[in-house]
Amino acid sequence: MIHDSDFAMSALEGLQASPKWLDSKWLYDTHGSAIFEQITQLPEYYPTRTETGILKDQIDALSAVLEPGQVLVELGSGASVKTRILLDAASGLRAYVPVDISADFLEETAEDLRKAYPDTPIRPVVADFTGEITLPQALDDAPKTAFFPGSTIGNLPHDTASAMLDRLSRWPGIEALILGLDLVKDTATLVDAYDDQAGVTADFNLNLLRRMNREIGADFDLSAFRHEARWNAQLSRIEMHLVSERAQTVTVAGQAIRFAKGESIHTENSRKYTREGFAAIADRGGWEIADFLTDTDQLFAVAVLRPKRA
Ligand code: SAH
Ligand code: AVI
Repeated sequence: MIHDSDFAMSALEGLQASPKWLDSKWLYDTHGSAIFEQITQLPEYYPTRTETGILKDQIDALSAVLEPGQVLVELGSGASVKTRILLDAASGLRAYVPVDISADFLEETAEDLRKAYPDTPIRPVVADFTGEITLPQALDDAPKTAFFPGSTIGNLPHDTASAMLDRLSRWPGIEALILGLDLVKDTATLVDAYDDQAGVTADFNLNLLRRMNREIGADFDLSAFRHEARWNAQLSRIEMHLVSERAQTVTVAGQAIRFAKGESIHTENSRKYTREGFAAIADRGGWEIADFLTDTDQLFAVAVLRPKRA
């Protein structure tokens, strides 16, 4: 088994640190992407249905952003379910470019979209969106709108999110960014959304251990770890952890990793925003807020951003 893959190096970096952590992008192998789709259907997981409602209610304002001839580029596209609301309403798009790290899931999704939207070129790009994204060269000169839904931005460390927004604002032809943001709300609603009764989110989190066992020669006993969702009020984020139920030593990519009883691996942050807090982040990343669309309960927001330097 080869232990010098990006995944093995990243996992060892996090598991040899104190406290232990893993980059949440590794949650998304084909199985993880499918479990995430189940999460979006859970009664406790309000973000997907709320954002979908905003996109539908505000489709006139949003389709005015998507002018004919534009390329729609989606970051972290997953199953591109919400995107269909935009694709149904936009006319004459030059192409749709879904960008995702979960390669096989992306390709399957692209195939489905080609059947559903035969007049729109579907040009998937497998990439880590926190780095440089190489879009199809033929689209270099085209006007572009980026779509970054789901509040996936909230899964990124501050510096990474700022650098990403800054890079996006400098893309050739970039005209707008439609961005989903989960808003601060009461703690019970937040914790329940990340610790559902059916245990689907627990399965999503534990899939990281399954993936390490399969891909980088780890020997995690999944029954010896439990999922935990914690609200960190100071940092305004839900944290996912995998807590070791006992003292144990696990081998990962050829290295022994020791766990004390109760010690956790921090596997994901999901930041929650206020409008003011986000406006400052957008400003630092080179964007201004043109529109801030929310549901009546103020659970979630869809921000329409324009590059400041345009
Ligand atoms: N946009 C969809 C899916 C959100 S799930 C929705 O709103 O429901 C987050 C998506 O981002 C997953 O499909 C995951 O594979 C992708 N992703 C996470 N980190 C990524 C990274 N660093 N680079 C590219 N894609 C990433
Ligand atoms: C993709 N991302 C915005 C989800 C979130 O809510 O932070 C991932 C997720 N993690 C647990 N449940 C859903």
